[in-house]
Formats: sequence, C-alpha cells, structure tokens
Amino acid sequence: MVVVIFFVRYQNMEAIDSGQYEHIVFFTGAGMSAESGVPTYRGRGGIWSQYRWEEYACREAFDRDPEKVLKFHEMRRKTVLACNPHEGHVSIASLQKRHPRVTVVTQNIDGMHQRAGTRNVIELHGSLWRLRCPCGGRPEEDIGGKYQRYRCKKCGGWLRPDIVWFGDMLDQGVMEEAIAMIRSCDLFVSVGTSGVVYPAAGFPRLAKENHAWCIEINPEPNGLSCLYDQAIRDMAGKALPGLFDSSSLQGKNYPLHKHGIYQNTNRGESSDDVQ
Ligand code: OAD
Ligand code: ZN
Repeated sequence: MVVVIFFVRYQNMEAIDSGQYEHIVFFTGAGMSAESGVPTYRGRGGIWSQYRWEEYACREAFDRDPEKVLKFHEMRRKTVLACNPHEGHVSIASLQKRHPRVTVVTQNIDGMHQRAGTRNVIELHGSLWRLRCPCGGRPEEDIGGKYQRYRCKKCGGWLRPDIVWFGDMLDQGVMEEAIAMIRSCDLFVSVGTSGVVYPAAGFPRLAKENHAWCIEINPEPNGLSCLYDQAIRDMAGKALPGLFDSSSLQGKNYPLHKHGIYQNTNRGESSDDVQ
C-alpha cells in the first residue's frame, strides 16, 4: 500500500500570542478595504477594469486635463466616505494599543486604518486626503467629499492629489521608513495585496530575508504566495479579528479625523517607480 502524505501548508491557524513577537508589521493592500466597500484595483469590479489609468492616474493625464483627474479623485473620496472600517481594521488598531510595537505599512490611499484608530501608518502610495502642488512644498491635508482648493496659493497652478500615480517616484523618506520597519520586524502579516506593484511587492521577500515569520491573508494565492510561512485563505474582516489573542473590538464611530492622522512627514526624493 502506498501512503501519500501531503504537507498542508495553507491552513487556518490558532490565535497567535502577540507577546512572542517584538515587532509586528501589517502590510496591506486594496483587499484590506474590500469588505468596507472600497473597490480593489484588479479583478472583477476593480478600478483599473473600469477606468483607464492613462486617463486618470498619471502625470500626463493631469497635465492634459486636471479637472477630469480631480473629479475622478473626488468620486473616489465620496466612495470612501460612504464606507467605514471593518472589524479587521479595528482589530489591528486594537492590537497596536496593547502591544508595544505594531506598524502598518499600507499601499492604500483611503485613510481607513487611521479612521479605525491605527497611528503612524506608513502610506507608501500617498493619500486621497492630501493635496500638493507640482511646484513643490509640503502636501496639505484636504478632507471632505470635494476639494477645498483646486489651485496653489504660491504659483496659481492646479493642485494634485498627493498620490503616487503610474510613472511617479515613491517618496524616498516614506520608502526608507517602510524598509526599516520591515527589516526590524519578527512577524510580517500581509493582507489583501496582489503583489504585482513594485517596489512594495518586494516587501514580503525583504521580511523573509530578515527572518520574520510571514503570514499572508488573502482568499486568492498569487505569485508571491510561496514566500510566506503560512497563508490564511480568507477575507481580512474574517481572518484578522481572531488572529491574535484577545482581540477586542472598540467603538463603532469612525470619523475621518481632522488632525494628526497622517504622520509621513519624512519626505524627500526617490528613485523607485510604481508600475
Ligand atoms: P489589487 O487590486 O491589485 O489586489 C487586491 C488583492 O486583494 C487581491 O489579491 C485579492 O485577492 C485580495 N482581496 C480581495 N478581497 C479581499 C478580502 N476581503 N480580504 C483580503 N484580501 C482580499 O490591490 P493592491 O495589491 O493593493 O497603486 O494593488 C497595489 C497597487 O496597485 C495599489 O496601491 C495601486 C494600484 O495601482 C497606486 O494607485 C499607486
Ligand atoms: Zn504651486
């Protein structure tokens, strides 16, 4: 008789004792916000299957027709404002409150982690809730369904969303901060990313090379799944609340805070392209 033993790599797991880890990094993508109602980028119903990024999400499109590009981003703001963080966001924020070192590195621009109460979120691809002028200067918070201002006070030019569009450089300071966090973590939890957009897609490998235990939360596997030590094939809102010991849910009121939610102050030039 031949006995075949399958090594079950992908399985649901017992709750993790967060006290066994010194530094926990959550690396999140659009799937993190999907259950809140924010569309992902790829796949069915994804933003890039409905809108051509060449018309709405690159510097050339903005130079051609700034109003069209700004209207698109206002539409995205309204969508996000109609959504709320889900229990997965809240459980990360809750873990950060009771553990000495929890960092969120996100590709998302929706501010949902901050609304759930997470602090010091590293926003790799910028934010829907900030504007900046191509002439330079610090980005400014701008919160609401519509932009408060469309023009730069200094040069009179059109202000643009502080978002990393196709062909843009990533902010070097933000990138360096993210890399430092990932190098120093001993538990790396990736949630809801397809792993196709570099340089962010290089982070799971970086975490692995630095000997972190790597967990993927995503209903679907992708090309980077083999890098992870464990995979949870479930949705973020289902997997995260039970992932750690004694996750507790907090209040259900999720304002888009006016102050202090965006902490990426370490801004500079960068040499990495987003695809
Ligand atoms: P994608 O839209 O490429 O991928 C979303 C991922 O989330 C997929 O792997 C889905 O299987 C997974 N997913 C869907 N629902 C989920 C759920 N409920 N729970 C967990 N996972 C779920 O989004 P990103 O990987 O974030 O860049 O895309 C990366 C970048 O590409 C974005 O930041 C954006 C885009 O172009 C910029 O705008 C600069
Ligand atoms: Zn200007």
